[in-house]
Amino acid sequence: MAKLIDGKMIAGKVMEEVAEGSRRLVAQYGEEARPNMTLVLVGSDPVSKKLVDLKAKDCEKTGITPTVIALSETTSEEKLLRLVDRLNSDEDVKAILCQLPVPEHISTKKLLAAIAPEKDVDGFSARIDSDDYDIAACTPAAVMRMLKESGVEVAGKHCVVVGRDNMVGKPMAIQLLLNDATVTVCHSKTAELAEHTRRADVLIVAVQKPRFVTGDMVKEGAVVIDVGMNYIDGHPVGDVDFDSVEPKASMITPVPGGVGPMTRAGLLVNALKLAERKTK
Ligand code: GUN
Repeated sequence: MAKLIDGKMIAGKVMEEVAEGSRRLVAQYGEEARPNMTLVLVGSDPVSKKLVDLKAKDCEKTGITPTVIALSETTSEEKLLRLVDRLNSDEDVKAILCQLPVPEHISTKKLLAAIAPEKDVDGFSARIDSDDYDIAACTPAAVMRMLKESGVEVAGKHCVVVGRDNMVGKPMAIQLLLNDATVTVCHSKTAELAEHTRRADVLIVAVQKPRFVTGDMVKEGAVVIDVGMNYIDGHPVGDVDFDSVEPKASMITPVPGGVGPMTRAGLLVNALKLAERKTK
């Protein structure tokens, strides 16, 4: 039986730390030092709307002031980029998040590039040549924290990341490297995928394909982190086939209740860091 890594519990702990950090900032520098976050939502996708609402509530719980800007589906790219520009130059705005995905007529690449790095709460602009990776991409940072809280040391271990997108796979590989892991990144063109995944001491899966990784692809005793969130008949399902993988793993994250709550907590950590930087 694998040990379950309880993301909800760890996220609760992280949120308490952020709330304490917010209190400390305000006590030391006054109300104007309070962290804040401007959340931009374009369109009416119900999942995105719900996520933005949850993120705003998380902010409120941790002493971060949220501002939600909801724009219509037909908002032009130009208008959105102008808004981001305005938020970039607004001294009172400390953190900006544009909820993805945005409607197809808007370039995600242009939008993310437009957000000033010093306000990029998602950590998408964390540079590959940065040593400290202080404002790190939230989901990979969340995974690193979960590993740490579970007593998993990645230094010297073989960590295999399945998925290479900009939000998780690529920054995940970098964060593992910065923590001295040996890293293999697999993707849709990888030949003999299972040959690689079976060599993983720590296997991290982020492909958004339900139950993609099965028990035969996992080494006995591996630590398995499932970043996926898919829905089958309205039920949340990860990228890992929990039933066949769990008996082989030493530790595994459930879906839901694993990486998801931790990703949102990672956003709050970044919001606090951005506000702290403004006081220095
Ligand atoms: N949409 C789904 N996950 C995320 C995220 O982590 N950040 C942003 N900005 N949009 C998302």
